Amino acid sequence: MKITVLYYTKIGHTKEMAEIVAAGARQVAGVEAAVFPMEAPDVQWLTASDCVLLGTPTYMADLAGVVKCWLETAGHKYPLAGKLGGAFATAHFSHGGGDIAIQSILHHLLVAGMVVYSGGDSLGQPVIHLGPVALSEDLEQYQSLFATYGQRMAEKAVALFGES
Ligand SMILES: Cc1cc2nc3c(=O)[nH]c(=O)nc-3n(C[C@H](O)[C@H](O)[C@H](O)COP(=O)(O)O)c2cc1C
Repeated sequence: MKITVLYYTKIGHTKEMAEIVAAGARQVAGVEAAVFPMEAPDVQWLTASDCVLLGTPTYMADLAGVVKCWLETAGHKYPLAGKLGGAFATAHFSHGGGDIAIQSILHHLLVAGMVVYSGGDSLGQPVIHLGPVALSEDLEQYQSLFATYGQRMAEKAVALFGES
């Protein structure tokens, strides 16, 4: 089972958290997770993936424009339909719109025909409603949350699609 974690970053925070999401996913038996910048995904790997996770910095209390542009064409460029999808964000402020950035991505994933999931509050602590948000001043504090998110998404992908 392959998983693709895509990110856009300018300063590096979102890439750092994308690597942690992928490490969490790899905790699940049979899962191989690879991380790519959104601008240059490995198309073969992405095509073969059953789960695609997207990370964005929060810009103007929403997703970054580059990510929106990617999403506007991705559904036609890549076979996203039917894959499991989710999103995570980094932000500077707790009230800065990280959740809104994630929600915007989830809308796009639905439009692309993806199966959207986060685990919500059904899996207990840590509760992850839409997807995890890390505040850039203290990324380390969010490592375990992001790894748990990656693991939960991978577990759901394996439950839906099997290990191979
Ligand atoms: C143009 C711009 C707009 C931003 N707008 C917000 C915002 O509305 N809310 C917020 O919490 N942080 C905002 N930030 C901070 C970034 O979301 C934050 O630093 C993020 O971790 C950067 O991600 P990166 O290191 O992957 O580029 C903004 C940063 C930039 C450059």
